[in-house]
Parts: sequence; C-alpha cells; structure tokens
Amino acid sequence: MGLPNKARIVEVGPRDGLQNESGAVISTAIKVELINRLAEAGLSHIEAASFVSPKWVPQMGDAAEVMAGITRKTGVAYAALTPNIKGAEGAIAAHADEVAIFSAASESFTQKNINCSIAESLARFIPVIEAAKKNNIRIRGYVSTVLGCPYEGDIDPAQVAAVARELLDMGCYEISLGDTIGVGTPVKARKMLARVAKDVPINQLAAHFHDTYGQALANLYAVMQDGISVIDTSIAGLGGCPYAKGASGNVATEDVVYMLNGLGIETGIDLDKLVPIGHWITQELGRSNGSKVGLAMGCDQ
Ligand code: HMG
Ligand code: MG
Repeated sequence: MGLPNKARIVEVGPRDGLQNESGAVISTAIKVELINRLAEAGLSHIEAASFVSPKWVPQMGDAAEVMAGITRKTGVAYAALTPNIKGAEGAIAAHADEVAIFSAASESFTQKNINCSIAESLARFIPVIEAAKKNNIRIRGYVSTVLGCPYEGDIDPAQVAAVARELLDMGCYEISLGDTIGVGTPVKARKMLARVAKDVPINQLAAHFHDTYGQALANLYAVMQDGISVIDTSIAGLGGCPYAKGASGNVATEDVVYMLNGLGIETGIDLDKLVPIGHWITQELGRSNGSKVGLAMGCDQ
C-alpha cells in the first residue's frame, strides 16, 4: 500500500499524559496553557480532558474547568474521554467537540480499568452514543491491550477485531488501537492490524502506541505501510495508564513529527514550536523529557 502523504496526529498528552502524573496534581491553569500551546503549534485534534470518576483518577477531576478555560481555536477538535453517561453529560455540557469511549480486548484489563466486563462496557456506551449523536458530537472508540495485556499476556487479534467492529457498529467514526503497555513489535503489530482490517476499514483505524519498550516508532512505521495515517501521540512522551502497572507514555509527539517530516508526510505541525512545549511541561511536572527529538533539539528552541 505504501506510506501516506498526510497524517493526522491526535495529541493525547493533556489526557493520557497528565492522567498518570503521580506527583502533585497539576493546576488547571497549566493544563489550559498546555492545550492552548499545542493548538498554536498546529495540533488540530487534542484530547483535552477525561470525564471519569475523580475517585479513580483525581488528576482529571477538573475536566469541566479545563474545557471552560481553553481558548478554542478554529479548526481544532477538542475531545474528551468518557466511560459512561455521567461522563458524557459532563463532556457535552463542557462543549467537547468529540467524546471518546474506551474498552479493551482483554477482560481482566477492562475489569481493572473500568470495573466491568467488556460486554458491560459496551452496554454502558449505548446511552453515551445516543447523547452524543443527539448533540451532533462525534464519537471515537478505543480498544486497549491490542498487542498484549498486563494481566493476560498475549491477546488474540480476533478478539481485538471483534471489539473494534462492535465499536464501529455502535457509531464510532474511528477506532484507535491501543498498545497500552507498549509491548508490541513491528511484525506483531502488522499481523494484528491485518486481522482487524478484515472487520474495520483501515481508514477508520488509528494507532495509539505507548512506548514502554521503545518500539513505538518502529511499530508506527510498520503499520503506516499498511495504510494507517492517524496516530495518537503525547507531548514529551508524557503519561501511561494508571491501571496498567509499569506502562509508560505514548510515543512522543515530537519524535513522530520528526520522523514524518523526514518521510515527507505532512502533519501541519510546527516542530520548532512543539519542542519548547515539551521542555516547558516537563519542567512544570518536575520530570524528564521523554522525547529524544526534544532532547536533541535542546530547550532554547
Ligand atoms: P464504579 O465505581 O464502578 O462506578 O466506576 P459507579 O457507577 O458505581 O460509581 C461510583 C462513583 O463514581 C459514584 O459516586 C458515581 O457518581 C461516580 P458516589 O456515589 O460514590 O459519590 N462516577 C463518576 N463521577 C464522575 N464522572 C464519571 C463518573 N462515573 C461514576 N464519569 C468508572 C466505574 C468507569 C466510573 C470508573 O471505573 C472510572 O472512572 N474509571 C476510569 C478509568 C480511567 O480513566 N482509566 C484511564 C483511561 S483509559 C486509558 O488510559 C487507555 C487509553 O489511553 C487507550 C490505551 O492506551 O490502550 C484510552
Ligand atoms: Mg493510552
């Protein structure tokens, strides 16, 4: 199939990144500034917040305030993660442009992450989808643990395909395939994708690869050759999943943009504006910058 000419980057740092910060809970003002700066750097799709239970994920407890505080830039979609109707009501009231629902290919992970079975999670999404459709809000779906589960190990690609297809049939316009714990390798990623693509058109699939084992760029390069052109990334490689022990952040936005620039694949993102954002947010968080490109380009960009 060959590489795409263009790719859409979905920046998930403000959600997937910040949800996992264990230190002091980061202020609403910093979250708002992060989202605004990412939009200024050319990100057109930003997962800005998560309307989940603050008892489960306190880091996302100010989702409504964050959504209210951002300066909406024309042409940018501000998305919110929602596990159930309560979350969807919050996201709709906060004028999210898109809601994201999430299940997994592994029963044990679903149980740990959202306290229910895969089937129950899908049933909980029915009212979410109804509410979103009534408000003309797009729905994106996630399938987690597509290349391995922290509790069950290897995952059958047919199980990934089944959950992805279900989410598509329920009304998601796109399904993002999550290597939640970053254990995948390129051939494994391609095999998984080939199976899923039998049930879901490839142009409705996205790659959401965490970089725990340093394989994400290689895996992305592999699946792009099979037609993937939507990639989830996190500024400075922030993040991880609170319910996947040891999981580190998504592949860094800076690293992906650098690779795509080198491949001549258009993203609309200004790398020179992006790199300082990674340095700034990691300083605010008191943690190291997880982007190799960010480190190589230095902090006085
Ligand atoms: P539960 O305890 O089973 O829910 O949690 P419940 O319905 O029994 O409610 C318990 C309490 O939570 C109640 O409050 C509800 O009102 C409240 P109480 O009566 O005790 O005061 N509640 C809520 N509050 C605010 N917003 C809500 C909400 N729902 C219930 N939406 C639940 C079930 C799903 C709520 C919980 O398990 C939860 O919030 N889990 C979130 C887990 C999470 O955020 N995980 C990380 C995101 S997923 C991810 O990172 C993977 C991804 O990146 C892809 C990949 O990498 O693979 C997407
Ligand atoms: Mg994730």
